[in-house]
Amino acid sequence: MSKISVIGAGNVGASCAEYIAIKNFAEEVVLLDIKENFAEGKAMDLMQTAALNGFDTRIIGSTNDYSKTQGSDVVVITSGIPRKPGMTREELIGINAGIVKSVMENCLQHSPEAIFVIVSNPMDTMTYLAKSNAGLPKNRIIGMGGALDSARFRYFLSQSLDCPMSDVEGMVIGGHGDKTMIPLTRLASYKGVPVSEFLSEEKLAKIKASTMVGGATLTGMLGTSAWYAPGAAVSTLVQSIVCDQKKMMPCCVELNGEYGESDICIGVPVVLGKSGWEKIVNLDLNDSEKAEFKASADAVRAMNSSL
Ligand code: NAI
Ligand code: 2OP
Repeated sequence: MSKISVIGAGNVGASCAEYIAIKNFAEEVVLLDIKENFAEGKAMDLMQTAALNGFDTRIIGSTNDYSKTQGSDVVVITSGIPRKPGMTREELIGINAGIVKSVMENCLQHSPEAIFVIVSNPMDTMTYLAKSNAGLPKNRIIGMGGALDSARFRYFLSQSLDCPMSDVEGMVIGGHGDKTMIPLTRLASYKGVPVSEFLSEEKLAKIKASTMVGGATLTGMLGTSAWYAPGAAVSTLVQSIVCDQKKMMPCCVELNGEYGESDICIGVPVVLGKSGWEKIVNLDLNDSEKAEFKASADAVRAMNSSL
C-alpha cells in the first residue's frame, strides 16, 4: 500500500484525491493547501463518502504542514492558479512557476524518494522547471497532460463513431497547449481498425480541432478549468506507478534525443511503473507528424525560455 500527497486541494487536487480513494489502491492520501482549513475540510468531506463509496483509503488534510506528507511515494502538484475564460495555459506561467518551485522544495525535504506528477499549468514548462530545479533522476518527474488530452480525443472519436469509448484507442502527444498538442488521428483505432475506415478526413480534422481546444471549451462553459477528467487522468497515472501496472500513456517527460529533441519536457508515450516513467515508446511518425512534433517542441521551448 502506498502514500500519495496532493498539493493544492482545489478543484483538480480534490478530484484527484477522490478518484484515488475510490479506486482503493492507496493507503493514505494527504491533501495540502495554503488556505487555512481548506484541505482539512475537503479531506473530511471526502472521508464522509468512504462508507458510501466503499473505500478504505485514509484522506488527511493539512494547511501548509509538509511534515504530514512525510514518506510519500508519489507527490502530485496541482497548486497554482487555473485558467479563466479567454486565458491561455501559458498566461499562468509567472505565478505558477514560483508556487511549483517552492512546493517542490518543501516536498523533497520530507519525501526525497518520491515520484512527482506535475499538473499545474503551463504544465510542460512547469515540468521542465521541476526537472531543472530538483536535480532528481529524470524518471521521477512526470507531467500530466497527454493522458487527459487522449481521454478527450477518445471522447470526441466515440461521439463521432457512435460507439462505446472503451472500443476506441487514441493518443495525443506533444505539448499540453491548444496549439501544441497533436492528436494522432492516423494511429487511432476502433477495436483495432484504423478510424479512417469509418470517418472522413473532414470529420477527423474536426475531431482533432475539438480535442485541441477541449480544455478551453470547458473553461468557457465552467468559468474555470475542468477538474473531473483531469483528476481521473492523474489518478490513472498514479495507479500505474504505485501498482507497477506498466500502462502506456502519453506523459510529459524529459527527452534526450528521443523524437529528435533534447533539453525539453514534452508529451510522448511512456510506460509507467514503480520507478516512475520507465521507458519512452518510440512511435514511427510520418513526415507531417514529425513536423508537427518539431513545431510543438519549438513552441514549448520558447515558453520555457521565459522562465
Ligand atoms: P484551484 O484554484 O481550484 O486550486 C488550486 C489550489 O492551489 C487552491 O486551493 C490554492 O489555494 C492552492 N495553492 C495555491 N498556492 C499554493 C501553495 N503555494 N501551496 C499549496 N497550495 C497552493 O485550481 P484547479 O482548477 O485545481 O487547477 C490547478 C492547476 O492545475 C492550475 O494551474 C490549472 O491550470 C492546472 N490544470 C492542469 C491540467 C493538466 O492537464 N495539466 C488540467 C486542469 C488544470
Ligand atoms: C485543461 O486542459 C486547462 O489544462 C487544463 O483542462
